[in-house]
Amino acid sequence: MTSNKHLKNWVDEMARLCRPEKIHWCDGTEEENRYVCRIAVEKGSFIPLTPRLRPDSFLVRSDPADVARVEGRTFICSKTRDEAGPTNNWHDPQDMKNTLRGLFDGCMRGRTMFVIPYSMGPVGSPMSRIGVELTDSPYVVANMRIMTRIGKPVLDALGPDGEFVTGIHSVGSPLAPGEKDVPWPCNPDNRYIVHFPEERAIWSFGSGYGGNALLGKKCFALRIASCIARDEGWMAEHMLILGLTSPSGKKHYVAAAFPSACGKTNLAMLEPSLPGWKAECVGDDIAWMRIGPDGRLYAINPEAGFFGVAPGTSMQSNPNAMRTLAHNCIFTNVALTPNGDVWWEGLTEQPPPRLISWLGEDWTPASEKTAAHPNARYTAPAAQCPIIDPAWENPTGVPISAIIFGGRRANLIPLVHEAFNWRHGTFLGAVASSETTTAAAGHVGRLRRDPMAMLPFCGYNMGDYFAHWLSMEKRTSPEKLPRIFYVNWFRKDPSGRWLWPGFGENIRVLKWILERIDGHAGARTTPIGYVPRPQDLDLEGLDIAPDDIEQLLAVDPSEWKTETQDIRSHLERFGDRLPPELTAELNALLERISRKKSG
Ligand code: GTP
Ligand code: SPV
Ligand code: MN
Repeated sequence: MTSNKHLKNWVDEMARLCRPEKIHWCDGTEEENRYVCRIAVEKGSFIPLTPRLRPDSFLVRSDPADVARVEGRTFICSKTRDEAGPTNNWHDPQDMKNTLRGLFDGCMRGRTMFVIPYSMGPVGSPMSRIGVELTDSPYVVANMRIMTRIGKPVLDALGPDGEFVTGIHSVGSPLAPGEKDVPWPCNPDNRYIVHFPEERAIWSFGSGYGGNALLGKKCFALRIASCIARDEGWMAEHMLILGLTSPSGKKHYVAAAFPSACGKTNLAMLEPSLPGWKAECVGDDIAWMRIGPDGRLYAINPEAGFFGVAPGTSMQSNPNAMRTLAHNCIFTNVALTPNGDVWWEGLTEQPPPRLISWLGEDWTPASEKTAAHPNARYTAPAAQCPIIDPAWENPTGVPISAIIFGGRRANLIPLVHEAFNWRHGTFLGAVASSETTTAAAGHVGRLRRDPMAMLPFCGYNMGDYFAHWLSMEKRTSPEKLPRIFYVNWFRKDPSGRWLWPGFGENIRVLKWILERIDGHAGARTTPIGYVPRPQDLDLEGLDIAPDDIEQLLAVDPSEWKTETQDIRSHLERFGDRLPPELTAELNALLERISRKKSG
């Protein structure tokens, strides 16, 4: 247990409210994990995979109504609506607490309440933070053990009066005495993913899936942490962190913010197609960054595992992810092969002749539905990644040379462009846009503005968040900050064909980015920023038509003119919370476009 009074009192209070049958304090040991997985197997929640093929790994099938984050049911309950801003669902905190107390009243009857002390970041690092999640889901316990550092070492680091972020989670499906449980209990009609930023508290009800239920991830490490970071002068971002070593031996770290299911994991584990280049992974989803003693920006990965999109992952697209998945993994909503292994769309060129789909149904290649859910995910320990960076657990982080924004845009946005400076780069991030994906419930393929890939994850008014980004320039000398770039791997030609091969070939773009930083790559100045000319990119050995390259690097002033109208209405949403610098950047962009058109 713990000597922390605050923790003891809070657990007591929550247990009185939720009325679980038992309380289990997680110590984080192997033995405990075996026990949790065994009860999950006995309940029919976990299906053990064949040990010879996939040792110590499990398949889990969710309820078909609980397969992704639910942005419409995610709330930021700050004191005022203005504090949450126009992009968040806001509710009065007192009102919401009353609703939640009603829902949580007796919600864990017949279940065990697990107490999971966890550290975001290496235990004891000055950049790490502690949270405690209470949950009635063994699935959450097994996942949190992979995704974060849990158990006794965390309680020791917390000590008698350490502070922590509270998180209470319930699947919202109490059991009457003798009632038989279902494999994936949940309460899809009553989902609430609620954040109280001032109180540093999270309440999550009704969903067992990913970002809704693993509270260390989006709820803490992004929504609550973004508020802490604003108050303390650092940054909590939806970014991968990647180390790149050139053939001459020079190493740079870069961080990249792409929206959900837009390529972070793939870039974070890239296998470079250019000879002599080495890529090493620090993290694939979240970066906490602060200015270090030398004035540069340093990043840690607060997580300890990957919760990655399975479909599309293969030895061709992401061999390092495939190697990471060899053992000790949890697979959610993928298909099961007859010999007890996993399969998903894109894993092999030819699908197996017979499978059990994520719905538990017989499946053949003639079936109309997909075998795996498009947002099927794997949970894997980061330490198992064969290209994990030697400094990935460095308590003071790694220095970041470039920040890269990106998204899914079939047209308009070139393969890569570079911001003129930090302020312009902040503008590029603030107006970033992408087509929506299956990572969140709702429409897929709809274009939306997703500033810094943080639209669903910023815990406060996004206008203030932009101001916080701009303020980083005053915290150090501007030349020490990372340079800012914007990439788009997802350009298509009118027939719908990808113009850029992507994946391992993305090293060609990263090479240009690093050469820009080191001062020896060319570019042309366009209204939107610096864009490489075809001769500035290393295209050696790449089979790509010159016409495709031209399309990928084109900047059409009249198309951009149209785009600025949408950018203006996007920025206007923030009213008087919008930093005037961003309006100035938009006006400057318009002026550069007009000059180009007339000149
Ligand atoms: P979250 O975990 O939801 O935050 O997503 P992520 O940003 O880590 O996305 P991920 O890397 O898992 O990519 C998801 C989808 O993008 C998969 O379907 C990939 O196949 C596809 N993808 C990734 N990189 C590329 C690329 O370079 N080109 C193309 N065409 N598709 C890509
Ligand atoms: C995302 O949606 O950005 C994810 C997956 O990384 S989840 O953890 O479910 O939020
Ligand atoms: Mn993510």
